[in-house]
Amino acid sequence: VSLTAPSAPEDRCPLSHAAPQAGTAPNGCPVSPQAAEFDPFENAYQLDPAEALRWSRDQEPVFYSPKLGYWVVSRYADVKAIFRDNRIFSPSIALEKITPVSQAAQDTLKRYGYAMHRTLVNEDEPAHMERRRALMKSFELEELAHHEPMVRRLTRAYLDRLIDQGEADLVDEMLWEIPLTVALHFLGVPEEDMDTLREYSIAHTVNTWGRPSPEEQVAVADSVGRFWQYAGKVLEKMRQDPSGHGWMKYAIRRQRELPEVVTDSYLHSMMMAGIVAAHETTAHASANMLRLLLESREVWEDVCANPSLIPNAVEECLRLSGSVAAWRRIATADAWIGDTFIPKGAKLLIVSASANHDERHFENPDVLDIYRDNTTDHLTFGYGSHQCMGKNLARMEMRIFLEEFTRRLPHMELAPDQTFTFVPNTSFRGPEHLWVRWDPSRNPERHDASLLERERHFPLGAPNRQDAEREVRVTEVIAEAEDVVRLVLEDPRGRPLPRWSPGAHIDVLIGDYVRKYSLCGDPNDEHRLQVAVRRESPGRGGSRHIHDSIKAGMPLRMRGPRNHFRLDERADRYLLIAGGIGITPIIAMADRLKALGRDYAIHYCGRSRQSMALLSRLVRDHGERLQLYPASEGRRLDLPTLVAGHGNALIYACGPGRLLDQLAELTRTYPGALHVEHFTATAEALDPRREHTFEVVLEDSELTVPVAADQTVLQALRAVGVDVPSDCEEGLCGTCEVAVVDGDVDHRDRVLTDAERADNRRMMTCCSRARSGRLVLGL
Ligand code: HEM
Ligand code: FES
Repeated sequence: VSLTAPSAPEDRCPLSHAAPQAGTAPNGCPVSPQAAEFDPFENAYQLDPAEALRWSRDQEPVFYSPKLGYWVVSRYADVKAIFRDNRIFSPSIALEKITPVSQAAQDTLKRYGYAMHRTLVNEDEPAHMERRRALMKSFELEELAHHEPMVRRLTRAYLDRLIDQGEADLVDEMLWEIPLTVALHFLGVPEEDMDTLREYSIAHTVNTWGRPSPEEQVAVADSVGRFWQYAGKVLEKMRQDPSGHGWMKYAIRRQRELPEVVTDSYLHSMMMAGIVAAHETTAHASANMLRLLLESREVWEDVCANPSLIPNAVEECLRLSGSVAAWRRIATADAWIGDTFIPKGAKLLIVSASANHDERHFENPDVLDIYRDNTTDHLTFGYGSHQCMGKNLARMEMRIFLEEFTRRLPHMELAPDQTFTFVPNTSFRGPEHLWVRWDPSRNPERHDASLLERERHFPLGAPNRQDAEREVRVTEVIAEAEDVVRLVLEDPRGRPLPRWSPGAHIDVLIGDYVRKYSLCGDPNDEHRLQVAVRRESPGRGGSRHIHDSIKAGMPLRMRGPRNHFRLDERADRYLLIAGGIGITPIIAMADRLKALGRDYAIHYCGRSRQSMALLSRLVRDHGERLQLYPASEGRRLDLPTLVAGHGNALIYACGPGRLLDQLAELTRTYPGALHVEHFTATAEALDPRREHTFEVVLEDSELTVPVAADQTVLQALRAVGVDVPSDCEEGLCGTCEVAVVDGDVDHRDRVLTDAERADNRRMMTCCSRARSGRLVLGL
């Protein structure tokens, strides 16, 4: 998105002006036939908004919809850029009624003295951030933790009620009510007032984002009016004793310190707004999630067997089938979105459901992949300074629902032949009913009551990639060389395994040990992963166990694959250097370079030919390019000569630390030439006595976060609810990277090269810190 026009709008119009015209957009361009036909209240969009906008993502990512009177934005990068810039793209219309409110409904509201004010979600700056900052604390992880037992208790109570029924409409019997009750608890509403407030709770979806009939409008106005009046009374009651954890109570306490930021009228509005924000969003998201998982039976069964997958499964369901399909902004100035000129005053429907299916950002976007690396990038919670404050409460609820269901009703299935219906509207999406059935005599708790006591505590916040473990089966154990075995791993049900690229590794979990092994098979073989494992010196338990105990047919737990050692395929020449078992990533790289037709040479050292793994394959496939240095034959690799003659080749090396250290020394004068993978961190454990405190300023979220001396930047960001994915948390993998806008970074990772460090545009938040008092980050 930019404000400077690359040229006059007419010159850059993406459409052919000769196309059949069905009207003209407000920027003067003709409206394409598809744009003219687009109607979000019709079935196609209701059933699957992402699919209904596939044509737009492909051909016309920003278009004017005459039927809606909005510009529709469908690609990931554009939707995110609009969320990021809340000054040019103001959220002030976020809650505007898409269908104008009838006079009768307005009169009804007036009778109740209804005076709902702007709430956070549709407030402009600077008022919005002042208020958001003042009220944020209740959403921080430490505070949210207080609500977890309540969510657990409610979920169990509702499940107890239906566990012996054998069938249920989960929306009616559970998913609609729990998020509402959780919202009331979260706000701090006294128990005795909950039933009354629940009675007044109405479907806001249809009223705000749909096409309510005149009768519906009056009925809704009536409930809203009653709610408003009662909320005022409850608020007065809370003022008597505002101690405790509720968000309203906190706001009442904050009002004493900041009366001009947290005003009386805002407090009254907040109760209603809080419920709207928390209720239907979470109810729909939970129903979408259970439907999606039950439709993908194998994934459901994986989650039942391995609850560590739950946080990632929840996140992937939020991406693939979120409950907020689209959000709204209004242009406060002329602007460009990509190649499309948008006039000041234009209303935008930014379709996060479409962005979440954009193949430009998510690989195989239509597939439910609970091991996906970048799921957390989804835009279902919005992004930037207005990003959903309650996202971690919603995640917590959805995780607890999924955990209780998969543990207590793993045999549950969708009732057959059911047609899902949706309330027609632009923004919120979830089935009105979700019928499931099961055989109560097979309920596992009837045979094992201890199951009822079990529960898992997932760390609050964005899912941690380390949580997602996968079980594979060892199908072959092959003696590869002296003290080296090669394992072939397959999915236990013969399903495809994730794709990987040369340099990737997997984490193998054995008891308490985690060992990284580079993949050395064929990346195109989607059913088999292969690793070669050398028996390590005594004391390193993992490899000994693999050598002594692993047999074909046994299960193995693993995570990944991930790649921290990517092959840059753009060079003309490559030098591949391997020491010992370091040959595993190198052979995968050599295979790839051969397929690409690049110039490469492999230099492989080892104790003796008998101890050097993968030799026959290397000789067969790379014979002419292979140089072997078995020490037992007196052949030694002369690294200084090799490096001196490397020309402009990129060097990829894997092997013992001293080989890599020597290479680093020799290539000091060739910045960017050497690529190695580190398996050990250089960063030491954080010693608060030697660190200073500093602050990080988040440009997109407009927050300033203090980082204490005993805290990493990553921990500080997480504590206030900012999502930054992480993996190794030792500065090795690059997962926690964020963009640096300003400030000097004290880099402590092993991911960035010297040149990248000097460039100062990226940092690893799990270990690197500020040199001085302040860093500005692109978050
Ligand atoms: C804002 C989605 C649950 C509280 C938002 C926004 C979206 C959203 C799209 C606007 C973001 C933007 O403009 O960038 C969702 C979804 C939920 C959910 C999909 C469930 C799966 C909750 C819960 C609460 C909550 C449980 C708890 C109270 C809020 C608040 C805002 C907000 C206070 C306004 C933030 C601001 O404008 O500064 N949410 N939400 N949400 N949400 Fe949620
Ligand atoms: Fe791996 Fe930070 S999480 S480098």
